Amino acid sequence: MAAGLLALGVYVPDKVLSNKDLESFLDTSDEWITTRTGIRERRISAPSEYVSDLALKAANNLKERYGEEALADVDQVIVATNTPDAFFPNTAALVADQLGLKGAAGYDLLAGCPGWLYALSQAAGQVEAGIARKVLVIGSEVLTKIVDWRDRSTAVLFGDGAGAAVVGPVAEGHGFRSFVLGSDGSGGKTLHMAALASSLPDGTRMGPAIYMHGREVFKFAVRVMDTATVEAIEKAGLHPDQISLFVPHQANERIINAARERLNLDWDRVVMNLDRYGNTSTASIPIALAEALDAGKVHEGDNLLFVSFGAGLTWAATVLTWGGA
Ligand code: ACO
Repeated sequence: MAAGLLALGVYVPDKVLSNKDLESFLDTSDEWITTRTGIRERRISAPSEYVSDLALKAANNLKERYGEEALADVDQVIVATNTPDAFFPNTAALVADQLGLKGAAGYDLLAGCPGWLYALSQAAGQVEAGIARKVLVIGSEVLTKIVDWRDRSTAVLFGDGAGAAVVGPVAEGHGFRSFVLGSDGSGGKTLHMAALASSLPDGTRMGPAIYMHGREVFKFAVRVMDTATVEAIEKAGLHPDQISLFVPHQANERIINAARERLNLDWDRVVMNLDRYGNTSTASIPIALAEALDAGKVHEGDNLLFVSFGAGLTWAATVLTWGGA
């Protein structure tokens, strides 16, 4: 049985924080942020708004778009996030309960920004194996609650948001054609934030907010965006020419451009919205994909390529043939 994406919904908070706003309290400039990253503004969750709230709103948006029946037969919920409400209960169980998905399995997945792609691979595998009928796969983040707002090297990059998708059976010839997943924990020292332990196994000290060595992560990102996309396309039995739409993790325009050039894709085959949302981590690809769908850029039979990288360090890429629901 093939597994693919059946429905998609998104949510971003109303509050907008522009680069100009950041200039008022950080030693930075709109010009620096725009030219180095491509980001112009980002969304900020309300003080009382957490990952489970955003996730629920994205799932409700999915129901508005596709109807209540879109969640019928969902027997598993996965929330990919780096900013869960609590160690436990897990966010997915909370969201499943609020959606009335009685008895559905629920768990959170922690794999940096590629978490949503990792979760798609789990969902697809379980649907194909007959373990799950349909899986609600959510990426949800409130990263603006864990940045140090005095640190200009990270505070300008992140935003909040959520995306929710239903993974289920699709007709043969459609659905997920390949997954590439990887991690390198030795790179953990370049991007971290403490939970219970105050240091990594290599002795690197961790603090209570995001720490990132931007230049090191940049080099890693350019390398894995290249190798993971090429491998995912090959595993899918395709050539880059056959990719209709490239939906990369929205972290940095220069990183996306390097991957675009390597794959020899025109900009009109690349989805970009980081100018308006910044890096929303696990939510960035579903939010970008929803915009592409709304703009009429995705058609039955199109081959879509997703790729992401992030804390871990981790990476993931997948090729999906759209449609077949
Ligand atoms: N405003 C003004 N100047 C700044 C800012 C800022 N916001 N941030 C850094 N600078 C300065 C630095 O202090 C440095 O100054 P110096 O030369 O006097 O020391 C200079 O700008 C250059 O700094 P770099 O870090 O070398 O700048 P770079 O071109 O590498 O851009 C950036 C930094 C945008 C962070 C880039 O490295 C990047 O995008 N890295 C990847 C980050 C990423 O995508 N992470 C995703 C994972 S997140 C997750 O998984 C949760």
